[in-house]
Amino acid sequence: MQLNVLTLPGDGIGTEVTREAVKVLEKTASKFGHGLKLSEGLLGGIAIHKTGTPFPDETARLALDADATLMGAVGLPEFDNMPPEKRPEKGLLGIRKILGVYANLRPVKAYPALIESSPLKNNIVEGVDMIIVRELNGGIYYGQPRGIEGSGESERGTNTMTYTRAEIARITRMAFHLARNRRKKVTSVDKSNVLETSQLWRRVVNEVAPEFPDVELEHLLVDNCAMQLILRPKQFDVVVMENMFGDILSDEGAVLAGSIGMLPSASIGEKKASGAWVGLYEPVHGSAPDIAGQNRANPLGAIGSVAAMLEYSFGLVKEAAAVNKAVEDVLNSGQVTADLKPKSKPATTSEVGDAVANAI
Ligand code: IPM
Ligand code: MG
Repeated sequence: MQLNVLTLPGDGIGTEVTREAVKVLEKTASKFGHGLKLSEGLLGGIAIHKTGTPFPDETARLALDADATLMGAVGLPEFDNMPPEKRPEKGLLGIRKILGVYANLRPVKAYPALIESSPLKNNIVEGVDMIIVRELNGGIYYGQPRGIEGSGESERGTNTMTYTRAEIARITRMAFHLARNRRKKVTSVDKSNVLETSQLWRRVVNEVAPEFPDVELEHLLVDNCAMQLILRPKQFDVVVMENMFGDILSDEGAVLAGSIGMLPSASIGEKKASGAWVGLYEPVHGSAPDIAGQNRANPLGAIGSVAAMLEYSFGLVKEAAAVNKAVEDVLNSGQVTADLKPKSKPATTSEVGDAVANAI
């Protein structure tokens, strides 16, 4: 198969972890006899520095041409006081929208080797295996009207949470399809005791559910879900929710597994003419400017994102499994970065990347 992949290393540790992810992708492609065509583009703070905008047209063109995009991270402290329009994050929101990647999958899995790094007691976290399915193209992140207007005491900030029936139905179907190949349970998260968007959300989820009679459905309010994630995380299989709830709860999910540095994510859209599914793959962690450039960042979230790309965009299930297995081997060997609290001297970013590539 020919894999046509764009990389967007972005800011901070994004460049370092993406380098290791590409190393693993190259090794996997050659091992399994696939062609690999890599291109690289600018996104985020680095794009602002080089072109004046966080999401240059050239990047949009490259992303639309590629079958799949592998992203590092965006965000730099120097832009902290800028309005949303001028921030590196705007580049990420722009590429998610232009690619139409509406389903963000964030798997949370407890690895035995990492059980001690979890803030939760071992018996609570052992066996956790869920996917958070976050709607990624709608909701309060994109809703209009938005902005800050007026002045003095009446200066007012506005954001709008809005969802159409079609947007809710397609993310619901994605969640049910995923559940079918897992433990056959979907938990839909909302705030329907307060928000109209959530009332529509719950109604549409209930309407779609009978298409999947083999899958169990439950509804949970978002505040209760935040609590249940810590109390009894094992109860969850596929958990589906709107954009901002998913942003918040997936960070909570991330630490259950030991370190946010471990978590990959896949953002999926529609099928392309080439047969590949449009996809944007990125670790859940941010640009971590405090440790950037020091070869200390954990590249396993980015490497896991390569596995997700192979599986979801290219349907290469064996190859994806080989990458995940190599990651587990490296975890078990104890050759891991400082965030995973290794017993001996922490490994560097590039050592971990080399170890995973060698294990494939
Ligand atoms: C994430 C991040 C982004 C988001 C930021 C960087 C815009 O927090 O992917 O979870 O809020 O979606
Ligand atoms: Mg987030």
